[in-house]
Amino acid sequence: MNHLENALKKTARAVTNEVERLLPKGDGLDSRLFEAMSYAILAGGKRLRPFLVVTSSQLFNVLPNSALRVAAAVEMAHTYSLIHDDLPAMDNDDLRRGKLTCHIKFDEATAILAGDGLITLAFGILGDEKTHSDAEVRCRLITSLAGSAGGRGMVGGQMIDLAAENEGLDIGAITRLQRMKTGELIAFSCTAGAILGKAPEQAYDALHGYAHDLGLAFQITDDLLDTLGNEENLGKRAGKDAEAGKATFVSILGADRAREQANMLADQAIAHLEMFDEKADVLREIARFVVERQN
Ligand code: IPE
Ligand code: IPE
Ligand code: MG
Ligand code: MG
Ligand code: MG
Repeated sequence: MNHLENALKKTARAVTNEVERLLPKGDGLDSRLFEAMSYAILAGGKRLRPFLVVTSSQLFNVLPNSALRVAAAVEMAHTYSLIHDDLPAMDNDDLRRGKLTCHIKFDEATAILAGDGLITLAFGILGDEKTHSDAEVRCRLITSLAGSAGGRGMVGGQMIDLAAENEGLDIGAITRLQRMKTGELIAFSCTAGAILGKAPEQAYDALHGYAHDLGLAFQITDDLLDTLGNEENLGKRAGKDAEAGKATFVSILGADRAREQANMLADQAIAHLEMFDEKADVLREIARFVVERQN
């Protein structure tokens, strides 16, 4: 296993432990809700967004415990988006992270509520004093996640994504929707370290530029894997985008040109990190990993 994979595994373990610690346990009629929340978030996943939080935090000597709490919060926000994305009203999927999707394992109402429970818990964690002693930092984390996850970010991107099944979106519209539905949460993750570490604006902007390209490269690769990958590696169904007639980089450009685009975006992402020394090497490696991954 290479150095990056080891680091990803190590952070994934730490984040999973933190998530387990932060998840409420039910003790009555509401137990089913908490079971569904832990089922979805403890099912696995690459934990890429938490890794980006932890790695960007290391650039600014952020306290490890602060970074870990924000990492857990972003994984909660991400898992909520996946639970809702898999619902019959959206992508109607039955497999996620190698297991039954939340609404199949439980039921639709419970899955909706589990998503709601996770996203609200995420904001609660960001606002908690244990995450950072400075209220201004906590406030900035909250507004930043609200922007990334909300109507101008992930949720808005998901709305436009539904239109991509029926309307012939062009490459410009697809770029925008992918930056919103996937790129925004990745941008929050990459800039969280700068917020926590009260880094200069210039450093924040550099990380934002990096994330802008990384997020799009990530989603183009997701679309490539949907076309070329297999269910066993992915832990989710393949071929769903074509089946839904969804416009993606792959459907418009073809797989080869889509891959070229993803590689070019990874190079561009790395170029944004020029102001950082070798401390940012892990972020540079992540950009390569994002386009070369098999799941
Ligand atoms: C899948 O995200 C959904 C997208 C935004 C493309 P990931 O590929 O990061 O899923 P997990 O967390 O590893 O399961
Ligand atoms: C989902 O994109 C992005 C989210 C905001 C959840 P996809 O629908 O392509 O993600 P997968 O392929 O189901 O993981
Ligand atoms: Mg979707
Ligand atoms: Mg989906
Ligand atoms: Mg997909």
